[in-house]
Amino acid sequence: MRALVAVLAMIALAPMAPRAEPAPVAIVGDAIPQPLTAEAGDPARGRAIVVDRQKGLCLLCHVGPFPDQRFQGDMAPDLAGAGARWSSAQLRLRIVDGSRLNPDTIMPSYYRTEGLNRVAPAFRDKPILDARQVEDVVAFLATLQDPSATSSQKP
Ligand code: HEC
Repeated sequence: MRALVAVLAMIALAPMAPRAEPAPVAIVGDAIPQPLTAEAGDPARGRAIVVDRQKGLCLLCHVGPFPDQRFQGDMAPDLAGAGARWSSAQLRLRIVDGSRLNPDTIMPSYYRTEGLNRVAPAFRDKPILDARQVEDVVAFLATLQDPSATSSQKP
């Protein structure tokens, strides 16, 4: 009997084996209210991802309050004040999959794999950012409260 219980438990747990795909997220209105990780995001790690030219690539399109960063983009809204304009839940959906809000957006869906084409084989089934990195970026964006803090005007 005990062996049978053990076997049944193994069968029940089998689908919980780690998967490369991101776990499904619950979208409510224009937001994802539930954080993707139990641990809160870290704003300092989030900032590092946002200014990273290989990982986040955010500054390819966005300008923001980053006086230390040269060559910021001008194809997207200023990130200064993003944390005042949007709640963390709204920021989360904009990072996870902005195409849910604007199907024509040029912003990458950072935490989605299905329905993407033009993805190099090495990145298929892998989101650009993992769940923890999404939470770090959201935590950082939430700190951007001042819309006038941008560095875009500075030479
Ligand atoms: C290829 C260009 C591109 C990249 C790269 C990009 N974005 Fe965007 N982003 C946009 C555009 C364009 C919008 C405007 C929304 C739309 O297209 O509908 C936007 C919107 C946003 C918004 C909402 C802004 C607002 O206040 O209305 C946030 C926040 C944001 N992006 C954060 C990020 C972060 C963080 C990264 C990097 C992890 C990033 N974006 C990477 C193009 C980009």
